[in-house]
Amino acid sequence: SPAPWIPIIAAVSENQASLPAMSDTGNSTPLRIRVASIDSLSPTVRHFRFEPLDDLPESQLPTAQPGAHIDVQLPNGLVRQYSLINGPGETDHYAIAVKREPASRGGSQALHEQLRVGDLLASSVPRNNFTLRRDAEHTHLIAGGIGLTPLLAMARALHHMGRPYTLHHFAAQDTELLFQSELQAMSGEYLCHVGLTPSQTAATMAELLATPDAHQHLYLCGPAPMLQCARDTAAACQWPEHTVHFEYFSNPEARDDSSAFEVDLARSGLSLNVPAGQSLLSVLRENGVTLPSSCEQGACGTCRVTVLDGTPDHQDVYLSESEKARGDCLMSCVSRARSQKLTLDL
Ligand code: FES
Repeated sequence: SPAPWIPIIAAVSENQASLPAMSDTGNSTPLRIRVASIDSLSPTVRHFRFEPLDDLPESQLPTAQPGAHIDVQLPNGLVRQYSLINGPGETDHYAIAVKREPASRGGSQALHEQLRVGDLLASSVPRNNFTLRRDAEHTHLIAGGIGLTPLLAMARALHHMGRPYTLHHFAAQDTELLFQSELQAMSGEYLCHVGLTPSQTAATMAELLATPDAHQHLYLCGPAPMLQCARDTAAACQWPEHTVHFEYFSNPEARDDSSAFEVDLARSGLSLNVPAGQSLLSVLRENGVTLPSSCEQGACGTCRVTVLDGTPDHQDVYLSESEKARGDCLMSCVSRARSQKLTLDL
């Protein structure tokens, strides 16, 4: 008969025991992870490797698709989203690369200055709002600066699958070109564009996107001006909208929350008023309707809600123009109503 199983009961530190398992906002942070290593990739970018807290050999983290991110609960209490750069099949750790932003709102600063190897953190399971299609005849990955991170995971996956791709990395200076030797050794074409002015970036983008193809797909990630330039160029060159995929770090547009409107929740039978100055998401939560959210500024798509009736006033940068025109969904963290009332599938 097999030897009896002996449970391993590890002592749990007070810090670990007090990590949040589930917030009251519908965001789950069920994973407890330990900082396994921190390495400098450049003067401003660090690579963090997180491993599951459990030391058992079979312990694995939930798998992540290329383009996915995790919400990390930082030591200073903030929750921030970071794209995973894991290669395919790597489930024994999560890896992220984070740039120290001079105008940090606390996230990159905490990671760079406070985090130490061995620290414990809480993380969500991976979420993917930037999914990679695997049936494209060719995939064009266009990254700006640290926007390389989700596209690196995609390049690793495409290389692994033997699918053709080209990765263009736009960077202000050479030190921003990360993972160069790995990318050069991979099967896809890898091109760097360093130190371009905005007009040179626009000209290069026009060259890259001059020939639209309905069987090829574009993935764009980077700072808002570069992303807007790439999207405008793709639209001007008549790339079909369904072939252009993009992910913003944040919503650069100013939001207008001066309107007040009503919402009917079709499933829960509630009618609520959203006053000026308050988001639809927070009104829903106050009334017991929990929705997951992540960026809370209209950039990530996590808080998407289906609209059954009424006209939304989108203020996000997540939806495409035609999705906005269809008006059948909205981002509850920033969107409001153009009609007096919206009916939502909640
Ligand atoms: Fe990111 Fe609403 S939480 S779009």
